[in-house]
Amino acid sequence: MTEFLYFEPLLDAIRNGYPGRDVHFGLWNCNPPNLTFSAAQENLTREVVSRLGITKGERVLDLGCGVGGTMKWINSHFTNVHITGINSSIQQLEICKELVPIAGNSIDLRLGDACKFKHEQTFDKIVCLEAMFHFDSRRECLQRMYTALRPGGTFVGTDILFTRGNIPEGDFDDLIKTLQFGYGPWPQPELSVDELVAMLSCCGFIDVSCTEVTKETISTHEFTAPRGLAWDDATTKDSEPLLGAACALRTLHHQKALSYVLVSATRPVSSSAEPMELQV
Ligand SMILES: C[S@@+](CC[C@H](N)C(=O)[O-])C[C@H]1O[C@@H](n2cnc3c(N)ncnc32)[C@H](O)[C@@H]1O
Repeated sequence: MTEFLYFEPLLDAIRNGYPGRDVHFGLWNCNPPNLTFSAAQENLTREVVSRLGITKGERVLDLGCGVGGTMKWINSHFTNVHITGINSSIQQLEICKELVPIAGNSIDLRLGDACKFKHEQTFDKIVCLEAMFHFDSRRECLQRMYTALRPGGTFVGTDILFTRGNIPEGDFDDLIKTLQFGYGPWPQPELSVDELVAMLSCCGFIDVSCTEVTKETISTHEFTAPRGLAWDDATTKDSEPLLGAACALRTLHHQKALSYVLVSATRPVSSSAEPMELQV
């Protein structure tokens, strides 16, 4: 199973008492606009989870659950909800084990691959916050999600997509390589919003919506990439892949080659129930 280089400093910090559990961009779409990074991250979690419309008794799957930030939020804002977290990282799941279910909730943690996971029951809701770009195949994962949702069930997530925009071709390729070196795996970086919508529709989803929050997330880099350091300065220091990746991501975002999207889609109520695969 996969461990991610960019999680190493965070896992160390958590073991030394750092309380943050959200590993994603911040969302600055509200007043006051000067949110701290962690408040803006929580704001994105709230935005995504509220779009799920979770109700009592529902089964919710968090795919690529990180160190449990979204599950923690659901656990503390809903009652009688059955949460399953799937992650391909053993070390991150170890941190998730600290979560204590409250208010009739349950939390089930599973080591698994987002494109191949098995499930005994369907889910009412699936959330996938800032993880799809890491998966071997977005299409396979979306097909898997479709099968894992009950008819009428909803998927909500976020994704990061790149298009070349006005960046000279060689620079674009170098930026993506730098990004992949520090923040990878990132198998299919180039995808447009329209292509993502088409992919979801092709998998059978209806009510597909992709809302760009590209501008509202751009302040993230003020907290993750050092001011004044350019991506090509950072990459000359080969020993610092995380610094290079942070600066490359900032450059792609500032050059309008990055789209940050909030995605939602529903499995049609009328879709025939697929035979469920048994857990192995
Ligand atoms: C940017 S982090 C987001 C974590 C979490 N969703 C959050 O918002 O805090 C991406 C997550 O996807 C997980 N991941 C990457 N590839 C995966 C795969 N193939 N199957 C399951 N999880 C995966 C990583 O381990 C990591 O936890």
